Amino acid sequence: MSSENGAILALDRVSVSFGGLLAVSDFDFTIRKGELVGLIGPNGAGKTTVFNIITGQYEPVSGKVFFRGQDITGWRPDRVTRAGIARTFQNMRLFEDLTVLDNVLVAQHCRLRSSMLAAALNLPSYVKEEGLARQKAMKVLDRVGLAELAHTQAGSLPYGQQRRVEIARALATDPEVLLLDEPAAGMNPEETARLMEFICRVRDEFGLTILLIEHDMKLVMGICERIRVIDYGMSIAEGTPLEIQGNPKVISAYLGEEGNGYA
Ligand SMILES: Nc1ncnc2c1ncn2[C@@H]1O[C@H](COP(=O)(O)OP(=O)(O)OP(=O)(O)O)[C@@H](O)[C@H]1O
Ligand SMILES: [Mg+2]
Repeated sequence: MSSENGAILALDRVSVSFGGLLAVSDFDFTIRKGELVGLIGPNGAGKTTVFNIITGQYEPVSGKVFFRGQDITGWRPDRVTRAGIARTFQNMRLFEDLTVLDNVLVAQHCRLRSSMLAAALNLPSYVKEEGLARQKAMKVLDRVGLAELAHTQAGSLPYGQQRRVEIARALATDPEVLLLDEPAAGMNPEETARLMEFICRVRDEFGLTILLIEHDMKLVMGICERIRVIDYGMSIAEGTPLEIQGNPKVISAYLGEEGNGYA
C-alpha cells in the first residue's frame, strides 16, 4: 500500500500501550521521499514513542509500519537501521570517552560483514574492512564539516558539536530516512540557528528524508515543509507551518501546558 504517492515511510493505524495505557493510538502517518517533516506535540504526547515504533524499539499492539512499501513491523532495531532508517536520541548517546571518529565507527558496525571472531583474531579480511570503515567515517565527518574534530574526545566538545557528531554517526549507517529526536534541546538561539542550516544542508547533500521532533517552534516552523501534531497519542492536526500556527486545536493543546513557548 504505502509506496503509492511516493511514500517512503508509512504508519498504518499504529497503537502502542504501556500497562494498558495507549501512548500512541491509531496513528496514521505518511512521509514522502525527500520531505522534511516535523512531529510536534506537548510533553508526553507520544512523539518519541512514534520513533521507537518506526525503529523497532517498541512493537505496536496493532497497526503496521511500512518502509519503501515493505512491512517492517516488528523488525529488530539493527535490521531497521540496515534497511535504511537511522535516528538520533532525545538524550544523547555518544560514547564520551571515545573520539569523534570512533563514535562514528561504532555506528557502522551494523554494516560490517566480518564476524566477531575475525575481529578478535585481527584477520586480514577484518583489517581491510575496518580500514574501509575508517575511510568512510572520515568521509562522512568531512562532508558534515567535522573532520578537524575526528581525533577529539567526543565528551570534551561543546554541546552543539556533540549533537552534530550524533547526526554524523546516524549518517554513517547510510540511511535514506533520518529521524531526529529534539536535536536542538539545550541549545542557545545561535546554536539552534546553525543547527537549522546544518539539517537542511545534510538533507540536500545526502538526499535524505527527515522526520524531526522538536519543541523549538522557530526551528520547526523555519525548516519543515509539513508538520504533524500529536496530543495524548492521537493525531490532532497536520499542515504547513502557517496552517499549524493558526490551528485552534494545536493552540489549545499547547496552552494546556502553559503555552510552552509556542508563538
Ligand atoms: N517504556 C515506557 N514505559 C512506560 N510508559 C512509557 C514508556 N515510554 C513512553 N511512555 C509513556 O508514553 C507517553 C508518551 O511518551 P513519549 O516519550 O513518546 O512522549 P514525547 O511526546 O516524546 O514527550 P517529550 O516531549 O517529553 O519527549 C508518556 O505518557 C510516557 O510516560
Ligand atoms: Mg520525547
